[in-house]
Amino acid sequence: MTTLTAYKKHLQEIGKLESAISLLHWDQRTYLPQKGLAARALVLGKLARIAFELLVSDKLGHYLEELETQDDLSLEEQASIRVVGKAYRRHKSIPPDIYEQFTIAQSRSESAWEQAKKTSDFELFRPHLQKMVDFSRQFAQLYGYETNPYDALLEEYEPGMTTEQLRSVIEPLRKKLVPFIKRLREEGTRPRTEILDGTFPIDKQEELSLRVLKAMGYDFSAGRLDTTVHPFTISTGPQDTRVTTRFIGDNLFSGISSTMHEGGHALYGQGIPPELHWSGLDGGASFGIHESQSRMWENMIGKQLPFLKFFQPILASVFPEFAHTRPETLYNALNTVTPSLIRIEADEVTYNLHIMLRFELEEQLINGRISITDLPEVWKDAMKRYLGVVPKDDAHGVLQDVHWSTGMFGYFPSYMLGNLYAAQIFAKVREEIPDLDEQIANGKLVVLLSWLRKQVHRFGKTYEPQELLQRITGERLNPSYFTRYITDKYSQIYKL
Ligand code: CO
Repeated sequence: MTTLTAYKKHLQEIGKLESAISLLHWDQRTYLPQKGLAARALVLGKLARIAFELLVSDKLGHYLEELETQDDLSLEEQASIRVVGKAYRRHKSIPPDIYEQFTIAQSRSESAWEQAKKTSDFELFRPHLQKMVDFSRQFAQLYGYETNPYDALLEEYEPGMTTEQLRSVIEPLRKKLVPFIKRLREEGTRPRTEILDGTFPIDKQEELSLRVLKAMGYDFSAGRLDTTVHPFTISTGPQDTRVTTRFIGDNLFSGISSTMHEGGHALYGQGIPPELHWSGLDGGASFGIHESQSRMWENMIGKQLPFLKFFQPILASVFPEFAHTRPETLYNALNTVTPSLIRIEADEVTYNLHIMLRFELEEQLINGRISITDLPEVWKDAMKRYLGVVPKDDAHGVLQDVHWSTGMFGYFPSYMLGNLYAAQIFAKVREEIPDLDEQIANGKLVVLLSWLRKQVHRFGKTYEPQELLQRITGERLNPSYFTRYITDKYSQIYKL
C-alpha cells in the first residue's frame, strides 16, 4: 500500500468516527430524552477521544511528512494534506493534560453561564470566563502567530484572516453604517408591520417550511427537517445533511427565515461532491463562507421582492389570511430596521455592529487590555457607541451569547464576514444571471443553486476562503458590496 493510500484510509477511519459523533450530537439536540444525557456525554467523550488520538497519531504525522514532499499529487490531494496537516499541528501543539483541563473547565463554564444568564449574575460567570480567556491566550501562544495572538484564534474559523485585515474592513463599514442607521431613524419612513401580526399553528408553519426547503432545491432523500430550540444544520456523513429549525406561534416569518438560513447551510453540505467525502475537505471553506450561504438565502433571497412574489400564493394556500396580501407589503414589513440589544434578533443593517462590538472586546481581552471585571461596563459603553441602546441588565448584555463560555474566541467575526462575502458573491451572481429576479419570481430558485454548486459548493475546503473569494468574484474581500446592497435596499424601503 502506498503512503497516499494509507493516508486516505486513515482519514476515512477518522471520518467514520466523526459521522457517528455528528449523528449523536444531532440526536442529543433534537430527540434525546432528558435521562439519556449523562450516558450520552460519556459515549461522545469516548468517541471524540478515539478520533482525537487518530488525528494526532504518529502514524498520521509520518504520512503527512512524507506526502508534503511528494510532487505528483492532484490539487485535491495537496489541499487535503494542507488542511489535515494544519489540524494535526494545531492539535498536536496542545499538551493532552492541558487540553483535558480545558474541556473540563469548558463544561463547568457553560453551565455557570447558563445559570448566570438566568439570574443576570455576571459575578457567577466571571471566574469561569477568566479561565476561558486564560486558556485561549495560552493556546494562542502554543499555536503561534506573527503579530497578534488573536490571529492564532481567528485561524481556527477563518483560515488566513488576520486582526489587521479585519480592522481594515470594519473601519470603513462602521463609518458608513452608523450614520446610515441614524438617517433611517431620523429621516426615513418606517414601514408598517401589522400584516405580520397573528397566531400561526406550528403544524402549518412546518408545512410551509417544508415547501420552502423543497423550492430551494434541498434534497430530502439526503437529509431531513426537525425542530429544536437553537436551530442548526449538521452533516452526519456523506449524503446526509440535516436541517433543524424553530417555530414561534406568533411570529410566522421567524420560522421561515430560520429554515431558509439553515437551508442555505444545508445546500452547501449537500453540494460537497462524493470524491471529497472523508478526505478532510468535506466541509465549508470556512465558517464565514458557510455563513455567506445561509445569509444569502435568508436575506438576499428570502427577504426580497422576487422571492416574495413567488412565495405569496404558497403562503396564502397554507394561511388563507394572506390571500389578499401584496408581496410589496410583505417586503416592506419584513425589512424594518431597529437597533436591538440581542444579536440573534438583529436585522441585516444593524447585525454587523453587534459583531464589530464583540470583535473589539475579544481582541482586547485576548491582549489583556481590558479586565474581565470591567467587562459588563465596557459592554454597555460599546453598545451605546455602536447601536445607541444600553441593556438594563447583563443577561441582555454581556451574558447573551453562549460562545465565550466555551472559549470560542475568534468565532464572531465569521458572522460578519458571512454577510460581506454573501453581498460580494451575490453581486457576481447578478452579473452572471441577468434575469435572476424574473427566474426567482417564477420559483426557479434552482438557477441560483446551480450557480452556487458550480462556483462555491463543489470545492469544499479545497481553497482557503480568500482564495475562493478571489476565484469567484475576481477580487479580495471588499465591504463596499455590502454597504451598497444595504444602502440601496433600505433607502428605497425607507423612502430616503
Ligand atoms: Co448560520
